Amino acid sequence: MTAPKDFNDRMLSLGLARVSEAAAHASARLIGRGDEKAADQAAVNAMRDQLNMLDIKGVVVIGEGERDEAPMLYIGEEVGTGEGPEVDIALDPLEGTTLTAKDMPNALTVIAMAPRGTLLHAPDVYMEKLAIGPGYPTDVVSLEMTPSERVRALARARGVEDSDITVCILERPRHEDLVAEVRSTGAAIRLITDGDVAGVIHCAEAELTGIDMYMGSGGAPEGVLAASALKCMGGQMWGKLLFRNDDERGRARKAGITDLDRIYARDELVTGDVIFAATGVTNGSIVAGVKREPNYLQTETILMRSKTGSVRRMIYRNPIR
Ligand code: FBP
Repeated sequence: MTAPKDFNDRMLSLGLARVSEAAAHASARLIGRGDEKAADQAAVNAMRDQLNMLDIKGVVVIGEGERDEAPMLYIGEEVGTGEGPEVDIALDPLEGTTLTAKDMPNALTVIAMAPRGTLLHAPDVYMEKLAIGPGYPTDVVSLEMTPSERVRALARARGVEDSDITVCILERPRHEDLVAEVRSTGAAIRLITDGDVAGVIHCAEAELTGIDMYMGSGGAPEGVLAASALKCMGGQMWGKLLFRNDDERGRARKAGITDLDRIYARDELVTGDVIFAATGVTNGSIVAGVKREPNYLQTETILMRSKTGSVRRMIYRNPIR
């Protein structure tokens, strides 16, 4: 039998959900135990085992780190059975290791899959991010605008006051000026301690989460994952890589990036069709966390395809044996 070469996103998406579910199951027993490393490792092992059962010729392009730093799911690792379509994989087996260790909201297991060569090979540096949900004119806000200009532009586009806008920002000392400027507009700020993939996704479901816009810097790998989700749900996003030193610039060049000042729009971070799955580890506004009952574990997964814009929320109950 010849292997299918097409990106059969319809069939592959269910397999992807299994991958993120397995990672959430594995990290469940480590919720609230104060051990980030153990929680991450459990998720990594489970995600890798499940990925290797999929009929794909996969390459990890966003993973746990460079090969010399991460023994598993490192950038460039080949995953899958080797039978099937050639795909890029972006993953974060546990997005919010600290959130998990402290049992705080919005820890997720996250994975995206796309045809080979269509996900930006973002190095492990910071990225300046800006995201809004669907339904706005193209480029209504931009990274070139100041934070207060963005608030005003979004408020005008929504037909509301600046003070009706809520911006999500990672709580970090580097964001003090950003926070002060956004506050000066009268807008509200939802500060999060970690987990900017969830932060960005929140914009796509503003009626559920109350968040209109995401701003600030966070991990570049997480930026590609967030762009994958927004491409499925609708919404606009921009990212610009930030470099603190020559080593980081070197990482970008090694990843094939030549224009270090480029601003990437959502569809430049993810240039083709993509499928995305995320499973809740701790409770959050996007999906519920893992529920442990005496006889079973229950997870909630959001599974999406950009080709159709379909968004599924799937409850999975698995007996504990
Ligand atoms: P981990 O799950 O690897 O701990 O990452 C959590 C996170 O908050 C990301 O969501 C975010 O992009 C990044 O860390 C921000 O980095 P920093 O903590 O250095 O500001």
